[in-house]
Amino acid sequence: MESISWKPEYSVSFDSIDNDHKIIIDLIGKALTFAERDSQEYELKEALNELQKYVIYHFGREENYFRLTSYTDEELHVQEHRNYLGKLKRIIEQISLGEKVAVETFHTLSSCFLEHIDRFDKKYWEHFIKHGIS
Ligand SMILES: [Fe+2]
Ligand SMILES: [Fe+2]
Repeated sequence: MESISWKPEYSVSFDSIDNDHKIIIDLIGKALTFAERDSQEYELKEALNELQKYVIYHFGREENYFRLTSYTDEELHVQEHRNYLGKLKRIIEQISLGEKVAVETFHTLSSCFLEHIDRFDKKYWEHFIKHGIS
């Protein structure tokens, strides 16, 4: 199956945030690779824990910028972050319980993240620049 990798079209015009997104996309790709191989349960768990940690860190960074700059679209954006983390948490719980998670679910995790960049993250750059975030 097609793996995912960062592309210039995903850029949100901030190197530091693009860099976070690159790391997250790589971690999703790693989890996807393990999920596609049936016998890699330990590695899959590790990859998902690593992914969850980095996603929490990254969302926290964006949300901190929202607060610092009084971003008007904060509420909806933060809600989307919560939804995404909820999806990730459910997958981690299912795997911890020994339940099989369909590979398709990991593809959804991947497409939802790319969609989030496109629909939400790409909207804040002008506002951030105006408020001196770089
Ligand atoms: Fe975001
Ligand atoms: Fe983001």
